[in-house]
Amino acid sequence: MDWFLTIQFPLSWIRLWFLESPPNDPFKLEFLGVQRYPYLMEAQIRSSFKNHFETEPLIAFAPGRINLIGEHTDYQEGFVFPAAVQFGIWVGVQKNQLPYCRLFSLDFEESATFDWKAFSPKKGHWSTYVMGFLAQLHQAGYKFEGFDMVIGGNIPVGAGLSSSAALSVSIGTALSALFEFNLSKLSIARYAQKSEHQYAGVNCGIMDPYASAFGKENTALLLDCRVNQHEEVSLDLGEYCFLLVNSNVKHSLADSAYNQRRAACEESVMLLTPYFPEIITLRDLKVSQLEEVQQILPEPLFPKAKHVISECGRVLEASSALRENRLELFGELLKKSHQSLSQDFEVSCPELDFLAQKAFEFSGVLGARMMGGGFGGCTINLIKKGSIEAFKYAIAPSYEKKFGKAPSFIQVEISEGARVI
Ligand code: GLA
Repeated sequence: MDWFLTIQFPLSWIRLWFLESPPNDPFKLEFLGVQRYPYLMEAQIRSSFKNHFETEPLIAFAPGRINLIGEHTDYQEGFVFPAAVQFGIWVGVQKNQLPYCRLFSLDFEESATFDWKAFSPKKGHWSTYVMGFLAQLHQAGYKFEGFDMVIGGNIPVGAGLSSSAALSVSIGTALSALFEFNLSKLSIARYAQKSEHQYAGVNCGIMDPYASAFGKENTALLLDCRVNQHEEVSLDLGEYCFLLVNSNVKHSLADSAYNQRRAACEESVMLLTPYFPEIITLRDLKVSQLEEVQQILPEPLFPKAKHVISECGRVLEASSALRENRLELFGELLKKSHQSLSQDFEVSCPELDFLAQKAFEFSGVLGARMMGGGFGGCTINLIKKGSIEAFKYAIAPSYEKKFGKAPSFIQVEISEGARVI
């Protein structure tokens, strides 16, 4: 009898665990067959912190983001429409009264140490994000001292959900609370962006850290990147939801191509200014002015400018469509956005075009497009909840046959932004 109880108890416990989680559990990340739930992540950070540093940590969380529409417009001070998701990064932190900081990454199972009075962040290592954020605080005149930190997360890798922004924002949120800096969400987002420019070498816009900091449950943020202010648009999608399809590719040119696209937009502004003296960025031009713009810009620059100008218009139209619950119109705009990103801005790739095309052909999907910087990552699909399984079946085998790897599917829940737990 004893053996029966010992074996049965853990087995039923495990079974209950899986039965309690709905089949498309948004908190699920397959990790060695175990699912990384938020409460498990928090507990893991806490116990790892105690093991490594023998003190109780203060814990902060910051989420990844999706972007409904408005791609490559943020660095032209245009409009974007992101939302925070349920996946993110947890950071445990505590002062250590030492001349150095001690870090541990749960995901890399690796430690790092640096002198907090004299450190030099180097590109390409996870600890750079901690030093990069500290460098911003230092430049802004904030005084800090030695601390210990444990970092872990459950953002699907390489999906384009902005894990690096979530990492910086969670670090900023934790340090602000630990040293009582009272940093505003906007300051945290700005420092995160600057740190990315200086230490990751990507001249990104503000969208990702902003969405991570300001996200709100079931709400998308219509963000004006000129004034860095947003309007909340409540997401009432009824029988529809957002499903990401991860191409599981990231082409190596992604970062350099991103910077080139940004530079092309800036060059266009320079060439257009003598003819349109009132403009500061491409955001200041309207679709009705495109004919004139075409006369001025050289051949390779025009389609790029056209994308930014038309995409800003689409964001405003799409946010109104959502407010009025006109989901079909919203879906149409997603499709136009993809075509513009692929043909005019040239940041798509065969894998993303294939996934988008399959989605356009599938009747349960109202619209789809590539999401984020491009050259890999996910498509975002507005899909009828009841059609998800059929959609997976319609896409996965043909994708795998063509590209030799399986796509993965991520159902997102629109969630709260960064916070101390
Ligand atoms: C990346 C950048 C963002 C934004 C998108 C494209 O995610 O980090 O700032 O430019 O690409 O919209």
